[in-house]
Amino acid sequence: MTQKEISITYREYGNISELGPEDRLLAEAAIEATDRSYSPYSKFRVGAAVRLSGGKIVCGSNQENIAYPSGLCAERTAMFYAGAAFPDTCMEAIAIAAVQNGELCSTPASPCGACRQVMAEYQTKTKKAMRIILVGAAKILVFDKVDDLLPFIFDSLK
Ligand code: THU
Repeated sequence: MTQKEISITYREYGNISELGPEDRLLAEAAIEATDRSYSPYSKFRVGAAVRLSGGKIVCGSNQENIAYPSGLCAERTAMFYAGAAFPDTCMEAIAIAAVQNGELCSTPASPCGACRQVMAEYQTKTKKAMRIILVGAAKILVFDKVDDLLPFIFDSLK
């Protein structure tokens, strides 16, 4: 038996203004996208913004449904929109923000497992790392690739 260890590296920023201009713009777009959330059940407003190669930004927000499983997270709404409208363009980065009780959450919302799996798929499809930016009021976390949030990505099907 060999015991092994994996480690991930990510960066923590205290404020959106500490980000580079492209990532700052993306973070702002994610915050703005929370305004378009349809979340009458959870009242948890999530916004996601995807930057495509070439710089175009595509946004999504969580869309809920009275039949709960029929709703969709902000991240997948944004990525599926990008994948459907711009199928040949790589998704370079995704920023995620959440608002509760009218305030940007202090601790950033972390994407659910299903959203991480979808991020992994698009990263594999384009063979280019997708940066993930989790935007909170008190801190911003930046991961350079999906593998950092989803180690041991399923890739056995050849
Ligand atoms: N939600 C997202 O949109 N993204 C996340 O990363 C976590 C959760 C949504 C799903 C649901 O509409 C609400 O937030 C509460 O779970």
